[in-house]
Amino acid sequence: MPAQEKIIKKVNELRKKILDADYKYYTLAQPDIDDLKYDMMLKELHEIENKYPELITSDSPTQRVSESPTKKFDVVYHNIPMLSLSNSYDFNDLNDFDKRIKNLLGNQKYEYVCELKFDGLAVSLIYENEKFAIGATRGDGEKGDNITQNLKTIKSIPLSVKGDKIKNFEVRGEVFIKKDDFIKINEEQELKGEKLFANPRNTAAGTLKQKDSKAVAARPLNFYSYYFYTDEIKLKTHTEGVKILEQLKFPVNSHYKKLNNIEEVKTYCNEIEQIRDDLPYEIDGVVIKINSLEQQQKLGFVSRSPRWAIAYKFKAKQQITKVKNIVCQVGRVGTITPVAELEPVFLAGSTISRATLHNFDEIERLDIRIGDYVKIEKGGDVIPKVTEVIKDKRTKNLVKYSAPEKCPACGSQLEKPEDEVNYYCINFNCPAQVQGRIEHFVSRDAMEIEGLGQSIIEIFIKEGFVKNYTDIYGLHIHRDKIISLERFGEKSAENILSGIELSKQKPFDKVLFALGIRHIGERTAKILAKHFENIDNLINASEEQLNEVREIGPKIAISVRDFFSKKENLEIIDKLKSAGLKFEIDTSVKSKTHPNILNKTFVLTGTLPTYSRDEASKIIEDLGGKTSSSVSKKTDYLLAGEEAGSKLEKAKSLGIKIISEEEFKKLIS
Ligand code: IVH
Repeated sequence: MPAQEKIIKKVNELRKKILDADYKYYTLAQPDIDDLKYDMMLKELHEIENKYPELITSDSPTQRVSESPTKKFDVVYHNIPMLSLSNSYDFNDLNDFDKRIKNLLGNQKYEYVCELKFDGLAVSLIYENEKFAIGATRGDGEKGDNITQNLKTIKSIPLSVKGDKIKNFEVRGEVFIKKDDFIKINEEQELKGEKLFANPRNTAAGTLKQKDSKAVAARPLNFYSYYFYTDEIKLKTHTEGVKILEQLKFPVNSHYKKLNNIEEVKTYCNEIEQIRDDLPYEIDGVVIKINSLEQQQKLGFVSRSPRWAIAYKFKAKQQITKVKNIVCQVGRVGTITPVAELEPVFLAGSTISRATLHNFDEIERLDIRIGDYVKIEKGGDVIPKVTEVIKDKRTKNLVKYSAPEKCPACGSQLEKPEDEVNYYCINFNCPAQVQGRIEHFVSRDAMEIEGLGQSIIEIFIKEGFVKNYTDIYGLHIHRDKIISLERFGEKSAENILSGIELSKQKPFDKVLFALGIRHIGERTAKILAKHFENIDNLINASEEQLNEVREIGPKIAISVRDFFSKKENLEIIDKLKSAGLKFEIDTSVKSKTHPNILNKTFVLTGTLPTYSRDEASKIIEDLGGKTSSSVSKKTDYLLAGEEAGSKLEKAKSLGIKIISEEEFKKLIS
């Protein structure tokens, strides 16, 4: 055999053996060679490839780690959007889900598949011509980051497959870190004096964001696949896809199960909840899917979630610990939030030393005292809360907690609106509020000004550069002074200033959210922006007009009116306007509208057969329509379901067009 051929044969042999060892070790958890032998083979392969670089292929095991770091992750558009799941929290929710499916599928029989809901990060893997070609994060569901190089470091992800008929396909699944690996990583971080990670999920997320694949390879990332798509063969069921994943040697979690009805699904959920703590990785529930792909297609999806699947989220995890102190935080709108400082405990993957007590009524209701032992819970969200005082463990000398009368940050008298549970510091210039407002204004979900973190804002306030967020747009005047500050330089100043410039492109709804009006969250800001289209319409809207908008209740209406009736706030708007911020919606938003729906006002009533009210409202709004909570002469359609009450009568009397869900669907088709 000629020398060259011999080398090629050797290279192929080594690659096959290494990849086979990866599969046995990482996917099957049944290693059959020892580490030393593995390392020797990899070393030999590296040496040959170094000598003959022309022999390197993208699916060689040596290519799992790249020599040079990535500069910037490219954008990957997902062929099929990466959706999220709607959540359910108890068996009633599951019954409702089952009823909806039954309704939509008519008389058809159907079957469920249940899987674990891994608490990691969803990724998409594209294989072209049997080779792993592109790996991406979920991102916003439509487009994510190209993290191919990072995903290649995960040894259970095949670099190439033997697909027979299947050569081009997509796999989706979850990247995660095991519980004990997470603890080890944090121990190392502590030793190195570096920041600790909150939980395995954050650790995995932080790792996947690294630009240097060597650093990624050093972290023990794992992968489970739960989705397969190809157009090269026709599949009938989800489980057929899962079987193919197994044949192609992708890691599939063995707990998945086909079930015949919702009762069996409930039993499965209970069983999994029982073993949850024994699993080596974190899960936060069960994913329930309809097995037939034809039925999945028939069920379709609503807004960003499929109707054929649902997540069943487990109950919060609990711990008992001691309240060391109760302190009060001042929020950006002056809200005083009591927070319990706790004896640190480990709960559901992270160490907890603080828990929100929400408000003083809550402290009163639970009668929480400094020195008490309390039960803390972590729900779906990360912030733990106190749910109960362990009265048996209370010592006699503990005194009842009483709310402060003065603001802990500025000392001014606190006020409590009659119909609210919250106390407020009403000093607009309270330093805690000023700081909070600016932090909120620049935050990711608002104006997203990078580089302006909490400590830098503190410095800028101290230096007198900013008194409120409008001053951010005048920061360039202080450019030289900023550069001369300790810890700053030309580059960091430039970064901040260009971040500020970039923020001027943020759409109207983000600007509205950033203003920090009491009770106006992200979603409400979106609704208001869409409904009123520009700031002047919103400023001029009466409380009544505000109340008519769907999801806008009296509290929000009053708060909006209050905000815009103040001279200083109107001045803020003027300043931001002249800085060039957007105060009207982008007209291109209107381009996705449907002519039958555009500018029409709908009122919804009764129970619709398949859509929930929120789903129907979202569709209407997305297509350019408006929804209102009360029927008036201005109403164009009443979308009525079962058990429609007084609104139906009123619509009839006013001669308003009444349509069913079916007719509505025709209208938008
Ligand atoms: S199926 C449209 N299966 O849950 C179907 N997702 O909220 C969506 N997840 O982003 C994916 N385990 O990160 C599916 N067995 C599983 C899952 C799972 C965890 C995550 C995934 C997704 C999120 C949906």
